[in-house]
Amino acid sequence: MEDILAKALGQDAAQLAATEKRDLLVRLLSRLAHEVRNPLSSLDIHIQLLEEDLEAVVPQGRGQFSSRLEIIHGELHRLESIVERFLRLAGPSALDLEPVAAGKIAAHVCELLQPDASGKSIQIVQTIEADLPTVMADPLRLTQALLNLAINAIQAVQHDGSIEVSVKRSAADGAIVFGVRDSGPGIPADKLTEIFEPYFTTKEEGSGLGLWIAQQIAVAHGGKLTARNAAGGGAIFTLTLPLRGKEKSGG
Ligand SMILES: Nc1ncnc2c1ncn2[C@@H]1O[C@H](COP(=O)(O)OP(=O)(O)OP(=O)(O)O)[C@@H](O)[C@H]1O
Ligand SMILES: [Mg+2]
Repeated sequence: MEDILAKALGQDAAQLAATEKRDLLVRLLSRLAHEVRNPLSSLDIHIQLLEEDLEAVVPQGRGQFSSRLEIIHGELHRLESIVERFLRLAGPSALDLEPVAAGKIAAHVCELLQPDASGKSIQIVQTIEADLPTVMADPLRLTQALLNLAINAIQAVQHDGSIEVSVKRSAADGAIVFGVRDSGPGIPADKLTEIFEPYFTTKEEGSGLGLWIAQQIAVAHGGKLTARNAAGGGAIFTLTLPLRGKEKSGG
């Protein structure tokens, strides 16, 4: 797995955490499966056509080639079903869902980044709403997504400023809404969509995968990740997770 990722990503693979590597590998393999599926079905059609052509040209040779064609058909179908099975496996069902206390995840992310932030005179402010319900989520992936956002926020501020990590319930539908806001320069208006694309980076040492991975994680949970600029400057990233109707009180 390390090898495949190293070749696909160059030196970047070494910087990625285990969950990011797993996500990327799944993406690479499902892309491969998608790309193999099309020529396979085209082969299938052309072999059927070839069979018809051969019958028209050499009707007496039918017995000779029909057994070979049968083998080709059989093998093609076998390949197709391998690809189908793989595409089903590689789907977003790979999350390890459990009831998660959203506030605890956010607090943990802040705790992890505190030493780095302190060293840069960046204040981390936690705004966690009281009495949040638990949400069905994969805690490792969710932590990874929020870390990616908070690391970006610290990098945007560089030094002397603040980042705010918040968790609240959406007044509209009760979804859990994580926010990561920073006092940095904000995102150029024409880049608000592009920043989510894999490999888009403005950093010398960036892989450009952090936001893309965070978005994949949000979407795999049935949620979403959006970006905007705050009126007073700085960027705000919002990761929304639906409750999926499996909420419990407390946490
Ligand atoms: N909080 C932010 N403020 C301003 N720009 C941001 C912010 N977060 C992300 N960006 C922009 O989006 C780009 C993509 O971010 P992303 O996290 O995907 O990659 P990266 O941070 O460049 O590299 P890495 O893979 O190490 O995370 C960044 O290079 C930066 O230009
Ligand atoms: Mg990043």
